[in-house]
Amino acid sequence: MSQIDEVRTKTDIIEVVGASGVSLRKTGRSFVGFCPFHPNSRTPAFTVYPDSQSFYCFGCHASGTVFDYVMRKQGLDFKDALEQLAARAGVRLEPKGDQERQEDARRTRLLEINAAAAKYFNYVLLSLARGQPGRDYVERRGLTPETVESFQIGYSLEEWGHLWAYLTGKKGYPPEDVVAAGLAIDHETRGPYDRFRGRLIFPIRDARGQVVGFGGRALGDAQPKYLNTPETLLFKKGELLYGLDLARDAIRNEDRTVVVEGYVDVITAHQHGFRNVVAPLGTAITKGHVALLKRLSHNVYMALDADAAGQKATLKGLSALRDGAEDGEGGHLVATAQGAVRLESDVSLRIIRMPEGRDPDEVIKADPELWRRLVADAAPVMEFYIGAYTAGLDLGDPQGQRAALEKLLPLLAELDGAQQRVYIARLEQVIGIKAELILDLLRGGGKQAASGRRREAGGRRQAAGGYPAADAARPPASRLPPPASAPRTPANSVEDYLLALALRHNTVVPAAVEAMLELGLEKHPIVREMLGGGLEDLLEDPANQQIWAAFTGLPIEGRPTDEAGLEAWANWLEEPLRERFLALLAGAQIHPQDFRHRQEAEDCARSLRLQQARRLHAMLLQRIAEPPEEGGDPSRAAELRQFTALTQFISDAKTPPRTSTFPDLRDRLGKA
Ligand code: UTP
Ligand code: MN
Repeated sequence: MSQIDEVRTKTDIIEVVGASGVSLRKTGRSFVGFCPFHPNSRTPAFTVYPDSQSFYCFGCHASGTVFDYVMRKQGLDFKDALEQLAARAGVRLEPKGDQERQEDARRTRLLEINAAAAKYFNYVLLSLARGQPGRDYVERRGLTPETVESFQIGYSLEEWGHLWAYLTGKKGYPPEDVVAAGLAIDHETRGPYDRFRGRLIFPIRDARGQVVGFGGRALGDAQPKYLNTPETLLFKKGELLYGLDLARDAIRNEDRTVVVEGYVDVITAHQHGFRNVVAPLGTAITKGHVALLKRLSHNVYMALDADAAGQKATLKGLSALRDGAEDGEGGHLVATAQGAVRLESDVSLRIIRMPEGRDPDEVIKADPELWRRLVADAAPVMEFYIGAYTAGLDLGDPQGQRAALEKLLPLLAELDGAQQRVYIARLEQVIGIKAELILDLLRGGGKQAASGRRREAGGRRQAAGGYPAADAARPPASRLPPPASAPRTPANSVEDYLLALALRHNTVVPAAVEAMLELGLEKHPIVREMLGGGLEDLLEDPANQQIWAAFTGLPIEGRPTDEAGLEAWANWLEEPLRERFLALLAGAQIHPQDFRHRQEAEDCARSLRLQQARRLHAMLLQRIAEPPEEGGDPSRAAELRQFTALTQFISDAKTPPRTSTFPDLRDRLGKA
């Protein structure tokens, strides 16, 4: 039995969850309580299964084993979670096999050598007379002594064997280990020499703060500009993010990670108080990166250069995210830009557009406020593609319109129904093609249009016509995969959009949404009790809840009704809510003359409501399907009643009532 298995078998997930402050109630064979991963005090949607020793939340889809639970609850990586649970279970973690033990010992030696080298480089920078070029450079880049200390920045002398002599001589480390750590290169004929010479040194630390490698920047124009440790036992580029050890807490607190391209960008950001910033090490974002980030926050912002080259880099970064997710936990099989859009169900991705030719380091140094604004204005990835794919096209010309649409249709096809409609409306404004035509192409000929083989109008029309159900593209919750592999949902962009509408049109939208919800709940008092009938009951994202609560806390006559008013009000919000609020508005730019906000809001609300109802329905189904407890379970009868009510509610809700005030899309399509 592996040690992991041993810890697993000696650990009871019920106890661990209980000890973490979540109180659980037994129902049937499972335990339920309020989910620690999303705020909700109405429905105990968090379910723990002692049989499979797993958990699943029907509200936010958090799921996994006891290891996942501890990792997520405490923000630990697997190793730390394992150690903690092993201690709890009284299992002594010791590598078993000889080979494992040897590798472990080697890893420890390399870590020690790296730590010694980092200290050496730092000492050379700060204290040796010959470290002067390094000190001049640090000053030129505006790095403060505190920054040098917290990032442990160093300098390597312009010499071939100074570090080598120190590590193998004075410190007595085995030469082959110094080579294995990547600090020296063993030349066939000339023997070993230092890899880093005459460079500013950035130690690269893993999430636990251990030095696993180094990046060295040339002080002048020497090539390459940056030199990294090669892949070693410790240094796996695809699984490391520079700055993550220092950014962890901030990422968790702000519930957002900002990904930049370079070391110096990270360092400058931190130096100016933006601490949730990390960078890959000269590579694109990989599966390992996504996995690291997802543990801390599902909101990922990527800062990229807005010029043409930068835009390509963005696309590269995103398609690499695709590679990352391919066989990743999310199980999303994705390709091309579609992949990036689909990835939104894994992490919520926004693009920070950098001013042409400037990187975050330059922007932050020159104008921290501008950086703050750029982050707040980050566009959801779909918006980014709309911009990227319409740039340089003449949208007054049918050719241009068509070219844009052909690129964007496949992306639209990746979205769920409600988001689709949001973006169809958006494309109507941007490209100037009628919504119903876009929808028509999407239903009938999206793929063909995408590949340039467009079908005749008649053929397309035939396929259209069905009401695009808000959640057509999603499997109903009752067909959710089994708990352990259920996907996690990131911030819900339908929810974001609804909230933006409600804020912008607060004299109309909240009332309309509530009237619509009321219509559905009229016949279902039990469901009303479970789900609530207010707009606030549709919000699951804690930041959204707080923003809405703050907004509705204002006296009615004091609520801003225009863009300028909203932006002014934003200043009353505390960070990170303020930024979040501005991003929310920016992410849902609505044409001032657009009169469909009310219908759009209702569509969003209907979709969210149905999602909620289906999730709860699936949860209850699972509970009542379990054999009854001996002695009877008092909550069972209530759950049965809830289940029946929800079944009826969902079936009623499937046919959305037509709104009388605005034309129904079904009618428009019928007439077309
Ligand atoms: P940049 O060339 O944009 O560097 O490369 P930068 O961070 O702006 O550097 P400064 O401000 O001129 O010092 C971005 C990142 O790409 C990797 C490094 O990780 C760098 O931070 N890179 C770049 C390399 O690995 N090797 C190179 O030769 C260049
Ligand atoms: Mn730079």
